[in-house]
Amino acid sequence: MVASTKPMAAAFSGLELLPTAVVVLDAGSLVRYANQAAADLLGVGVPALTGQRFPELFDESRKVEGMLEEALAAHWRYRAQTVGYARPGRERLPLSCMVAPIDAPGAALLAELRPIQEQLRQEREERLHDQQEATRELLRNLAHEIKNPLGGLRGSAQLLERELDRADLKEYTQVIIKEADRLQVLLDRLLTPRRAGRLAPVNIHEVLERVRSLVEAEFPRGVSVVRNYDPSVPDLKGDIEQLIQAVLNVVRNAAQALLSAAHGGSGGTIVLRTRSLRQVTLARQRHKLALELQVMDDGPGVPEDIRDRIFNPLVSGREGGSGIGLTLVQTYVQNHGGVVEFDSRPGKTVFTLLLPLV
Ligand SMILES: Nc1ncnc2c1ncn2[C@@H]1O[C@H](COP(=O)(O)OP(=O)(O)O)[C@@H](O)[C@H]1O
Ligand SMILES: [Mg+2]
Repeated sequence: MVASTKPMAAAFSGLELLPTAVVVLDAGSLVRYANQAAADLLGVGVPALTGQRFPELFDESRKVEGMLEEALAAHWRYRAQTVGYARPGRERLPLSCMVAPIDAPGAALLAELRPIQEQLRQEREERLHDQQEATRELLRNLAHEIKNPLGGLRGSAQLLERELDRADLKEYTQVIIKEADRLQVLLDRLLTPRRAGRLAPVNIHEVLERVRSLVEAEFPRGVSVVRNYDPSVPDLKGDIEQLIQAVLNVVRNAAQALLSAAHGGSGGTIVLRTRSLRQVTLARQRHKLALELQVMDDGPGVPEDIRDRIFNPLVSGREGGSGIGLTLVQTYVQNHGGVVEFDSRPGKTVFTLLLPLV
């Protein structure tokens, strides 16, 4: 028997706009209503879901069945359980499922579904966000404090230089001036308020090709760049200069890692990969479509001791590194409403930029 869906849909139309996948069940565990987010998540249409037995959608149908029974009996919100959803022709999707009894005609339970990975990522993202705000604030203040005395040092070195008549002594004042300038550049980079500039349609593959030619020119030997593009990825709206700089910083790090002493300087391969993803929540906003841009290398991996801090300013695992590269990547990606994350072990490091498309 197919439940009549029309009145149900009307009764629950408020759920239609929810970003979370929500399914309404009757006392017999039949799906009486599913919102669009649920249909998107499960990869089937709303009509196909409606009238199905909910527990049977999952690998662990027994477990789900038990959960529904208990929620009904106890009349209490039942906490999240991990269940696997077997998608036809695709890999199993681990979901967290939460059920709560509801009081509505013809409906008994409301189930919420979230992809586990997505949930973990969102929690991590929010934790990081707060932490970064604090770090940035601290850095801005510190940079301001350093700027003035630095100007004084540089000015005095210049005055002193004019008084010196021996060229070999001027070498010392030149060191002071040059180092002061270097610090100045660093401070300026930390201080400039960075927002995305002009927004225009950007073809991400154009960005990647620009980066590829820059990196191939900078590292003519030992690093090969392999392209794995999905040409159907639509343009994104962005600031092309910032996007190039962001991707360049990531790819350059990979090239440097491949040629580093830690890797025996033996070189390796960098893969540039693009895909589009459906239904992604980034920076607390839900997007129908997002770009997944990955930079992978088969180098030594991010040094263990700085793994949880590499996006912080001034954190570097490299001789002569400034530790600003990834901070800028993060700022630029955030300017575009996206997020950046990484996964690394010796032999495989992947930096992933997720950027909203719609
Ligand atoms: N692909 C990678 N492989 C190994 N280590 C990496 C990779 N990308 C970044 N790192 C580590 O992260 C650190 C911080 O990078 P970044 O912020 O660009 O600063 P910098 O390059 O100036 O050191 C690097 O010094 C390096 O130790
Ligand atoms: Mg760098």
